[in-house]
Amino acid sequence: MTSTSPSGSPAPRDSANARSRKIVLGVAGGVAAYKACHIVRGFTERGHSVRVVPTESALNFVGAATFEALSGQHVSTGVFDRVHEVQHVRVGQEADLVVIAPATADLMARLAAGRADDLLTATCLVASCPVVVAPAMHTEMWNHRATRANVATLRDRGVTVLEPAHGRLTGPDTGAGRLPDPEQIVALSLLRLAGRDLPQDLSGRRVLITAGGTRESIDPVRYLGNHSSGRQGFALAEVAAQRGAEVTLIAGATDELPIPCGAEVIRISSARELAKEIDCRAADQDIIIMAAAVADYRPTVTAPAKLKKTSESAPTGIELTENPDILAGLIAARREGRVPEDTVIVGFAAETGDDSGSVLDHAIRKIRRKGCDLLMCNDVGSGKVFGRSRNRGWLITPDGSVVEVPDGTKLEVASLLLDSVVQITAER
Ligand code: CTP
Repeated sequence: MTSTSPSGSPAPRDSANARSRKIVLGVAGGVAAYKACHIVRGFTERGHSVRVVPTESALNFVGAATFEALSGQHVSTGVFDRVHEVQHVRVGQEADLVVIAPATADLMARLAAGRADDLLTATCLVASCPVVVAPAMHTEMWNHRATRANVATLRDRGVTVLEPAHGRLTGPDTGAGRLPDPEQIVALSLLRLAGRDLPQDLSGRRVLITAGGTRESIDPVRYLGNHSSGRQGFALAEVAAQRGAEVTLIAGATDELPIPCGAEVIRISSARELAKEIDCRAADQDIIIMAAAVADYRPTVTAPAKLKKTSESAPTGIELTENPDILAGLIAARREGRVPEDTVIVGFAAETGDDSGSVLDHAIRKIRRKGCDLLMCNDVGSGKVFGRSRNRGWLITPDGSVVEVPDGTKLEVASLLLDSVVQITAER
């Protein structure tokens, strides 16, 4: 498995979760049960211990021996196995986190009803730790009113029920109901373990997020670009979608990252392509987050054929033309009524300190110049952020107040940033 995730790869040992925690991985009986093997690996590679508790039907898809070998722990499904160890109580009592992936419609119905007729459901009834459920089923089942009601009941009780991914299902059909990528499940579960919840407080909100770097073509082969990996923007899209938002993600050049569950992804290359995609969507958004690293300049002329170093066309210098400032354009559009006045607009600032000021000095000047509602500032000196699994920085508001964002996974940083956005939205 390629360990790519919005929060980091390859399989980073999160310092926030450096302490080894006891994770129960419940596995229900669906074809996606095979992906649970990668989830066990994702947790154990980060130093956590995993006790796999499959349902009886899950063992039709993956044998107990596989789970035992991968986890190094005994695997049982029923409450009458090893009765002297009182497993049906002890497994849930000792857990720091319960993750169920995949969770079938039937398992969620049993959880919602409070059943305890096998080891997994008994464990969930006993557990007082966070519980994360990753559903996988056909779209019809996911959309059925019975399942919707069960999801609502579980969320109401504090269970984190993840949004499924959209894509190819077991048969030839596609739709909502696919199990998210194992690395996404691991990263989102660890977010819960780090004390960050995924409340449905962005439900019904339309959120537009840009991510990654732009590329400005010099000729058909070469371009001007930057080091942005897109991880922070993808993490924002992931958390926003899991918090109920309708997310559009406009992505430039990024690392290979799984698509945030439920998000619509639009690929662009240059700053002007990005500007065009934003232009036709901005008027319908409640929240716009400009996490993309947009090139300020492009070559004035893009050569139609490859420039040859030996020919007369060999460049001695590249003449540049300034790109549109998309964020400034959005603020102007809001002022002029082309974007609703209550749309929250967030900017990013990747800064390094220099003779004219510190990282924070530059960021405070930037939010005043740009006029956005919130600015996330990172210190990117000496490769501190690009392509990394973790991030830190400051959230700055137009009045110049600064809130430190402590070191955390990019999902944790996204979660904090979205808390601030929700607060701004509530104050409007
Ligand atoms: N941005 C934009 N359009 C551009 C350049 C940047 O919309 N042409 C956005 C970025 O997406 C980011 C914010 O503006 O949210 C700040 O980007 P940054 O490159 O730090 O700001 P600049 O105004 O280009 O300032 P400088 O490069 O001089 O620091």
